[in-house]
Amino acid sequence: MSEFILETSGLTKEFKGFTAVANVDLKVRSGHIHAMIGPNGAGKTTVFNLLTKFLPPTSGTIRFRGRDITHTAPAATARCGMARSFQISAIFPHLSVLENVRIGLQRRLGTSMHFWRSAKSLDILNGEAMALLESVDLATFADTVTAELPYGRKRALEIATTLALKPAMMLLDEPTQGMGHEDIGRVVELIRKVARERTVLLVEHNLSVVANLCDWTTVLQRGSILAEGPYAEVSKNRLVLEAYVGSADVADAYH
Ligand SMILES: Nc1ncnc2c1ncn2[C@@H]1O[C@H](COP(=O)(O)OP(=O)(O)OP(=O)(O)O)[C@@H](O)[C@H]1O
Ligand SMILES: [Mg+2]
Repeated sequence: MSEFILETSGLTKEFKGFTAVANVDLKVRSGHIHAMIGPNGAGKTTVFNLLTKFLPPTSGTIRFRGRDITHTAPAATARCGMARSFQISAIFPHLSVLENVRIGLQRRLGTSMHFWRSAKSLDILNGEAMALLESVDLATFADTVTAELPYGRKRALEIATTLALKPAMMLLDEPTQGMGHEDIGRVVELIRKVARERTVLLVEHNLSVVANLCDWTTVLQRGSILAEGPYAEVSKNRLVLEAYVGSADVADAYH
């Protein structure tokens, strides 16, 4: 088995003649927390959409755990072990926090009738759902209606419903977006914790989060990889600094 859980080769996406992702060879090492950064419009979300099969590539291949999954359907890709938070895991606002996690677990286990007929299997499910809530520090909110959760806690719930799928690799698109200082700290710790047992690929604009959380960083610019390596190195790269000229992101990282 390769040291890379995910490898793309020549990954390209064109929208009516505009190349949003150009010939990207992305390699994500097993067990890493890997950041994808780059200025607005660099193609980060489009790469995520290609990886999760939300969009078909114009050309190129995607290998996950040694298997070519370029043409695998989105649900099958998630079942292979690559799950994206904030997309695959729709949250139902009118249900309780516990019910939302239980639905995530049901999705993984399938919905075979004879399984759900047994009250015992429901108990097992509730136990597993509570354990997941504890792992993201939401146990005290189990009976809260999800719509009433504070914003940062909703993000933690989305991570919990994604974890219910037991993914080997988790994709997070801007997990700290719109958060205040305290929530950012909490989500960073949560990502660090879930990454102990899996690979994490995240898009993140907050470069101080990248600096203190991520093992490896890929910088995209205009659809292509501009630089990659540990954040301490890429953040000194002249091309990267130039790409960020006029952007507040790099300056923010030094606050
Ligand atoms: N469905 C689409 N049709 C046409 N153009 C698109 C489509 N999706 C994205 N693009 C374009 O592709 C480019 C890359 O967009 P993308 O959303 O991947 O960037 P990003 O790096 O995630 O940016 P941000 O940091 O603002 O989230 C942008 O120029 C965008 O306008
Ligand atoms: Mg984006």
